[in-house]
Amino acid sequence: MDKIIKLNKGIPTLYERGLEGLLKECLQSGNIVFTDDIKMAVEKSDVIFITVGTPTLGNWEVDLSQFSEVINEICKYIESYKVIVNKSTVPVGTQKCVKQLLLDRGVKKENFDVISNPEFLREGKAIYDFLNADRIVIGFDSERARKIMEKLYKPFNTEIVFTTPETAELIKYASNAFLATKISFINEMANLCSKVGADIETISYAMGLDKRISPKFLKAGIGFGGSCFPKDTKALVKMAEKYGCDFRVVKSAIEVNDNQRILPVNILLNYYKELAGKVITILGLTFKPNTDDIREAPSLYIIRRLLDMKAVVKCYDPKVSDKMKKIFPNIRCYTNLYDSLQDSYCAIICTEWEEISSIDLDKVKLKMKKPVIIDGRNILDLNKVKDSGIVYFSIGRERQNL
Ligand code: UGA
Repeated sequence: MDKIIKLNKGIPTLYERGLEGLLKECLQSGNIVFTDDIKMAVEKSDVIFITVGTPTLGNWEVDLSQFSEVINEICKYIESYKVIVNKSTVPVGTQKCVKQLLLDRGVKKENFDVISNPEFLREGKAIYDFLNADRIVIGFDSERARKIMEKLYKPFNTEIVFTTPETAELIKYASNAFLATKISFINEMANLCSKVGADIETISYAMGLDKRISPKFLKAGIGFGGSCFPKDTKALVKMAEKYGCDFRVVKSAIEVNDNQRILPVNILLNYYKELAGKVITILGLTFKPNTDDIREAPSLYIIRRLLDMKAVVKCYDPKVSDKMKKIFPNIRCYTNLYDSLQDSYCAIICTEWEEISSIDLDKVKLKMKKPVIIDGRNILDLNKVKDSGIVYFSIGRERQNL
């Protein structure tokens, strides 16, 4: 309810660049209304989008409880034809299950169709991605619903892939798992670069010039986090397993990522041998910049390890502190980046926020007990780092350990 009140006042309930302005604009023009009155919402809609979270369960299966709850609620009020569009990432076969569920709950066959329409936008770039999608995928089994969806998306002027619901559901998993695999691949290359003195950035650049490969999602670092890649890769492995398919490539991508996320701790241990009592600073807590989302962020894994080793953890992030303090009450969060570096033995960069990539290295040196930086996102300028005399570790850049 609190959320609905905020949204109706034009206050976003999460951080996304440009969202507040867009929200206010849509409220003023009367193009958007937020309500918890499901009956009214269903009655007044021709098309109903389901956009709830589908998190992962401990056993890698998908938690469909929020999704089922929505279906259970809307089915009570369907009295005329509605297109029910699923945007949430759900296992293959869900569209069929939803149809059966609606029928079982007494909704008349002629009163609904169910469409699978996966979403491909990225957090932090959500508005741009939605308005400029590379493709729109529509999984359908009714011509009537297909036509409605075509009309709805026509203004976007984007290629629409019309296919079966099962294929649409799998396109989403295939896309996310492929991108995640690309990241794990480049991270393994980066780890080799660190050993042999080669440069991952030049390798990514040169690989990316090959149009078949593309330069995107080839940025090495401390691995992927967020609410999508970690859960969708696991869900795909689990789903495939159910049908007797062993997804070895995706399993390896997950394993590589699990190790990559804690790589800075291993670098640190190798350098100091002992971390008990040492102040370690985490720069950036979110799983990527321009969001306030910390779900599955590498910072969580690093902090947990550091606390296990009795290090004193200080953190800085431009958007997050309370959320992290709730998970780790013993850490200290700062609103000023330089204050978080006071007496620190090492700064670990976990997120490529603009304010972190442009830090003043002279100021950093003055604050820290030992000027050591582990750049988990390869964002600092190598020449500036060299001039500063800071001990610098990166993820596979040529001139590391300067
Ligand atoms: C991802 C997909 O990119 C979207 O297409 C999809 O719609 C979304 O999941 C979803 O399923 O809802 P998102 O998780 O918001 O989007 O963010 P990404 O930009 O994909 O980044 C994910 C993680 O990969 C971040 O932790 C980022 O730091 C990491 N990453 C990304 C790299 O380490 N290297 C790269 O080259 C790119």
